[in-house]
Amino acid sequence: MSESRLKLDVTRMMADAIGKGYGVSSGEIEQIWPRVMNLLQGLEARRKSGELPFYTLHENEDMVSRIEEYAEKVRGRFKNLVLIGIGGSALGPIALADALLPLNWNHLSDEERKAPRFFVPDNPDPEYLGAVMEVCPPEDTLYNIVTKSGGTAETMAAYLAVMTPLKEALPEEWREHLVFTTDPSKGNLRKIARNEGITAFSIPSGVGGRFSVMTSVGLLPAALLGINIRDLLAGAAEQSEKVFNREFETNPSAAYAALQYLAHTQRGARMHVMMPYANSLYRVADWFRQLWAESLGKRMNLQGEVVNTGPTPIAALGATDQHSQVQLYVEGPHDKTFTFVVPRNFRRKVHCGKHHSDIESVDYLAGLDVGVLLRAEAEATQRALTAAHRPNMTFVLEEIAPDTIGELLYLLEAATLVAGGLYEVNPLDQPGVEAGKVATYALLGRSGYEDHRAEIEKERQRPSKIVQ
Ligand code: PA5
Repeated sequence: MSESRLKLDVTRMMADAIGKGYGVSSGEIEQIWPRVMNLLQGLEARRKSGELPFYTLHENEDMVSRIEEYAEKVRGRFKNLVLIGIGGSALGPIALADALLPLNWNHLSDEERKAPRFFVPDNPDPEYLGAVMEVCPPEDTLYNIVTKSGGTAETMAAYLAVMTPLKEALPEEWREHLVFTTDPSKGNLRKIARNEGITAFSIPSGVGGRFSVMTSVGLLPAALLGINIRDLLAGAAEQSEKVFNREFETNPSAAYAALQYLAHTQRGARMHVMMPYANSLYRVADWFRQLWAESLGKRMNLQGEVVNTGPTPIAALGATDQHSQVQLYVEGPHDKTFTFVVPRNFRRKVHCGKHHSDIESVDYLAGLDVGVLLRAEAEATQRALTAAHRPNMTFVLEEIAPDTIGELLYLLEAATLVAGGLYEVNPLDQPGVEAGKVATYALLGRSGYEDHRAEIEKERQRPSKIVQ
């Protein structure tokens, strides 16, 4: 068996390492494992029946070649790619771009980049959207509008906002500056694509927003930005071989889910911090925050009982947050687990110069590659947490590359399905998000939402309690 380029070290989740009563015991794993096996059998059967298409997205050759064809067709034509979407329709593309492009991407010259600059105004904040519009003239810009439902207010508002300058600047060619990613048949965006003849990619039915990073949601912008999407999918394929493995030691996604669940339900660790030690991976933690929160945070369980369950995921960044959060993490309440994500090799080396040989307490850093410092800090934080009896585990990536990122994202998605089974909730719905969407439509006077509007008006009659 070849060495895996992504490994999960769970040593410090265990009672042996962090102390009895704090870590998960081997007995607890043995006890829960038959339940995990049962869940995996069910998931495997649902995958085979085509009910869970996210498991096999990496096999969708049609989707990949269509994306590559389009990316090839528009290569060199646009200076900017503006992706308009929110939640699952934005976080995956952002995570991929941040992880796999240089962090100074938008500041590089066109010659250095050889692909467009990338902007994702994923909030209807006029100062943010307006600022992006200001630096992206429509003539040089491709707009990728991404919405599965085709109706999300934030996305459609930003789409309508960019359409005005786009049509004004390019009354004939504006359609060529748009590419949609949406449901294959339903929703307003699909309707607009049909009516106007705009190129549109599909998000396969049955793949929800937060599981869509390996569909055209993530792959199209990635390909347009020059990321090797085949390597990304190869990483996902690698992990897909493991997700139904029967042993704890050979199934990192199930092991991850089981440990997080046990730490939460048996040790009170209801907050799950993901802390990469690499700036380029911070948005992976942000993507995971949505995946874990929206999938597991539920009012009802599968039996229809009110349970109000779910862990709270938190994104942090090493070493930056060592000087912000780690005091709390080491000495605060025993209510958290920690997932570190650490690359074994960084893609750059930056060395400290030798400038103060007379001051030993500065000079020890001279000649040092700062990546060595960052990795040492990751280990130091792991040790500090371990000494303080805090459960922590580490994803070790051989390097940050399309295959390891594809593998990590797939693993976390698969883990989320297992965790959904353990918490006994449906990890694929998001009734709480839908409720917020409905209230927004009602507030903005969308037709069909009049009853909701009336309820809101009634609510507004109640006196407010203001402090000033
Ligand atoms: O994961 C999800 O389902 C959500 O976060 C959605 O992605 C988000 O609400 C945006 O929805 P849509 O893609 O329909 O615009």
